[in-house]
Amino acid sequence: MCGIVGYIGEQNGIPIAIEGLKRLEYRGYDSAGLCYFKNKKLHISKKKGKVADLEELINKKDSSSIVMGHTRWATHGKPIDKNAHPHFSMNKKLAIVHNGIIENYDSLKEGLIQKGYKFRSDTDTEVLINLIEYIHSDLKLSLSETIQQTLTQVVGAFSILVMSNEDPETIIIAKNGSPLVIGVGKEEYYIASDPSPFLKYTKKAIYLDDGEIAEISRNKLSILTIDQKIKSPVIKQLTMELEEIEKGGYETFMLKEIYEQPKSIVDTLRGRILQETQTIKLRGFNESIENFKNSKRIIIVGCGTSWLAGLVAEYIIEGLAKLPVEVEYASEFRYRDPVIYKNDIVIAFSQSGETADTLSALKLAKEKGALVYGICNVVGSSISRLVNVGTFTHAGPEIGVASTKAFTAQVSVSILIALALAKIKNNISKNDFNQITNELKSIHQKMQFTLSKCRDNIKEIAKKYKNAKNALYLGRGVSFPVALEGALKLKEISYIHAEGYPAAEMKHGPIALIDENMPTIIIATNRRNYEKIFANAQEIKARNGKLIAIVSEGDNQISKIADDFIEVPKTNYYLSPLINIIPLQLFSYHIAKMRGCNVDQPRNLAKSVTVE
Ligand code: AGP
Ligand code: GLU
Repeated sequence: MCGIVGYIGEQNGIPIAIEGLKRLEYRGYDSAGLCYFKNKKLHISKKKGKVADLEELINKKDSSSIVMGHTRWATHGKPIDKNAHPHFSMNKKLAIVHNGIIENYDSLKEGLIQKGYKFRSDTDTEVLINLIEYIHSDLKLSLSETIQQTLTQVVGAFSILVMSNEDPETIIIAKNGSPLVIGVGKEEYYIASDPSPFLKYTKKAIYLDDGEIAEISRNKLSILTIDQKIKSPVIKQLTMELEEIEKGGYETFMLKEIYEQPKSIVDTLRGRILQETQTIKLRGFNESIENFKNSKRIIIVGCGTSWLAGLVAEYIIEGLAKLPVEVEYASEFRYRDPVIYKNDIVIAFSQSGETADTLSALKLAKEKGALVYGICNVVGSSISRLVNVGTFTHAGPEIGVASTKAFTAQVSVSILIALALAKIKNNISKNDFNQITNELKSIHQKMQFTLSKCRDNIKEIAKKYKNAKNALYLGRGVSFPVALEGALKLKEISYIHAEGYPAAEMKHGPIALIDENMPTIIIATNRRNYEKIFANAQEIKARNGKLIAIVSEGDNQISKIADDFIEVPKTNYYLSPLINIIPLQLFSYHIAKMRGCNVDQPRNLAKSVTVE
């Protein structure tokens, strides 16, 4: 979710670190900073903006053979100068850069405040470095032992680099759930979130495992495992080239982001499902709980895929919480002088948080007295700053223009909101709450399984339909908006015209389109309306239509009559969009690639439509 670099050796590490941060900017940047030694003590330069802005800030005469740097993708605290990394501890004897999320930072911060700690920033990271400082001064351990002790109190994902005023020769690093790799040079070491910053200097790398801590100085490196054992470093010879590394070894950002979905769901749900107390921990929701209690209606506004995530949310929130939901194209909502009641809650879905129509629709709703709520993927974005409250998806930067991991992250936040609402309205039994949250906490495994199971056969199926001129996508219930999203994916990256429909709508017109040249993709995984969708499938086959079916494992009806089918794991009806969208994303992806389309930057499209 962000970029970390470190250097320790004989050279001036400042230009090495700056260049390394530039190589990592694709991982997300809203601010950047460096920490190095100047006049024999730790010095930090940092600011909001890109690495180039940071470069301007650094005194060209500065030189330091030990440096650490960070490009931030904010999760806690707006992207402003004070929240940029690195962060000093309160007494400025220690400094840290951090990639990840400290889930229990609020309780840790409370404890430190009671011990007299003051904070300069709003980040979870600063809590961590102050906890390290507190334990270091309290237990008189070595810094690496202190860090090890501290991390036993921390819940969350992190990779960190720590420097100390007392030791200008050492960087301590630790990894748990966020990437960190060490580049091995001659009498020098490089540290980074991925090898791209040091690939030009060395292809020898040491990958840390989760729970490990390394103490690195110019010519010494020691690794401590999670159970306090010294581990001899294993040096790997890297073969990847720079371009591949930025895409994590995938051929495009879109494919990387499709395969990142299990992780982005884990990151989005992290710390937000407290099963022991049967509560959903969403700060934005909890701060506006009275509004949700008194609300008679939720209006969702968005554009494109975000509008479709809102449509999925409608089925889930009405189904679980029994609260009426209306979903509006933001561009229509803002101009039709909508009726908005003072108890209405207007929720904006937006990955970028910058979409002009969505921003304007929200402004209108706010003027008309509604509580406005944002579900965004970019901290500090315009929409996230306009709303009264909101919930961030922690999907990490989505570079591919076609939205994939943001969609599933938005759906997972919708499920959390629906569960929270169902609880406060007493519309869900303990048993159902537990059943759904148990399934939600492990849904990333089924997503992972679907991704690996689809890997091959979806490509074969795509090959058969890559020259289609049109396509139909059908679904019922919560699978209907998923069908719409599947159609949008196909048309926006392969330029094949595709339409999504409620399956029952076929007989009201679209069935006239069915012939042997019209592939129809049908989502038939939900038991809830299986017989009816089976009938739709038969109608298509009766007219020689080509049928591709997404079915549950073990299906023995629709899969028997379909020309092609993809089996996916069974899951709860309301969670099925998180699984069913995966084969549709990959189907579109492979067709587009076979048609020679630029899937990361499809023609005529922009990642964020900041104009009307
Ligand atoms: C979807 O794949 C497209 N990239 C586009 O429809 C997008 O969802 C829409 O422009 C909304 O963007 P937002 O989520 O950043 O507001
Ligand atoms: N959670 C930290 C912050 O918001 C680190 C975010 C990141 O990985 O860049 O500052």
